Amino acid sequence: MDFNRIWTEKYRPETLSQMINQKHIISRLQVFVDKKSIPHMLFAGPPGVGKTTAALALTKEFFGEFWKDNYLELNASDERGIDVVRVKVKDFARTQPLGGSFKIIFLDEADALTKDAQQALRRTMEKFSNTCRFILSCNYPSKIIEPIQSRTVVFRFRGFVDEDIYLMLKQIAKNEGLSPSDEGLHALTELSNGDARSAINLLQSVSSTDRSFGKDDVYETASHAKPKEIKEMINLALDGKFSDSRKLMLGLLVNRGLSGDLILKEIHSYIVNSGINDKIKAELINIIGEFEFRILEGATELIQLDALLAKLASLGVK
Ligand SMILES: Nc1ncnc2c1ncn2[C@@H]1O[C@H](COP(=O)(O)OP(=O)(O)OP(=O)(O)O)[C@@H](O)[C@H]1O
Ligand SMILES: [Mg+2]
Repeated sequence: MDFNRIWTEKYRPETLSQMINQKHIISRLQVFVDKKSIPHMLFAGPPGVGKTTAALALTKEFFGEFWKDNYLELNASDERGIDVVRVKVKDFARTQPLGGSFKIIFLDEADALTKDAQQALRRTMEKFSNTCRFILSCNYPSKIIEPIQSRTVVFRFRGFVDEDIYLMLKQIAKNEGLSPSDEGLHALTELSNGDARSAINLLQSVSSTDRSFGKDDVYETASHAKPKEIKEMINLALDGKFSDSRKLMLGLLVNRGLSGDLILKEIHSYIVNSGINDKIKAELINIIGEFEFRILEGATELIQLDALLAKLASLGVK
């Protein structure tokens, strides 16, 4: 048994037709492959629903054995800004495509780029459109500037329905020789919220300790996966210890690489389930809602999380 391999990679579909769901998108991508013509594209949708998978599958089908030479994957939030993206694109675009008439550049988390950086990206896309096709990936298309939206074919990926996640988990469990209870599989499904990556990751982690796990094992594992720093961070903030609280927040955001909206979701779920008195709880939930809105609207995650902790620290509730 291959315990070292991450199952999300092991079970990532290799071809478009192997992908579960997203049929409205897959059939159109298949036409691009068949016609040997690919436009710039924008893949929008929640995490773990096949955006990266679709880009990879498309590239593999398009270029066959040469796919690696013709595919560049960049992450907008890793690459410390648009300048790095620009240089990498330029380097990659300099050499001729192999076995096709252009290369494919997949830019993950394009919505992490500022509006100015997106303008620069648009110019880069235009400059290299003879030799490159861009596939931009994002969670929220509304965070992508209009000039890019209008130059790309936009595909909206949907979160999975529970039934699809359940069947997928069942298949993987069978393949890996696991014997989970049916309730265990349903618990995994429910916790994953339509995100295939999170479902598969949780399956791998719960089954690493118990190959015939049940519902309680799943909940147990899931609660460990939740960063305990969230609890500490919120309590420090409510105690008025802003700087200490902020240190934990930076750890989550920078070291653990959690996204701002995920951290907010965790904060939200912690507060909802905490023993804080109802009046204060309601006030806190209200505040979190405001900050979530701002982040979704495109405000900088770090600044918004900072501001949230500052606000909690100034409430003087403890
Ligand atoms: N449509 C799908 N069919 C089968 N498996 C899928 C599908 N979508 C996702 N998966 C599984 O989930 C994993 C994560 O998917 P993927 O990397 O494509 O997500 P994503 O949409 O790019 O998410 P993110 O926005 O977080 O980058 C894949 O490796 C694969 O195992
Ligand atoms: Mg991805």
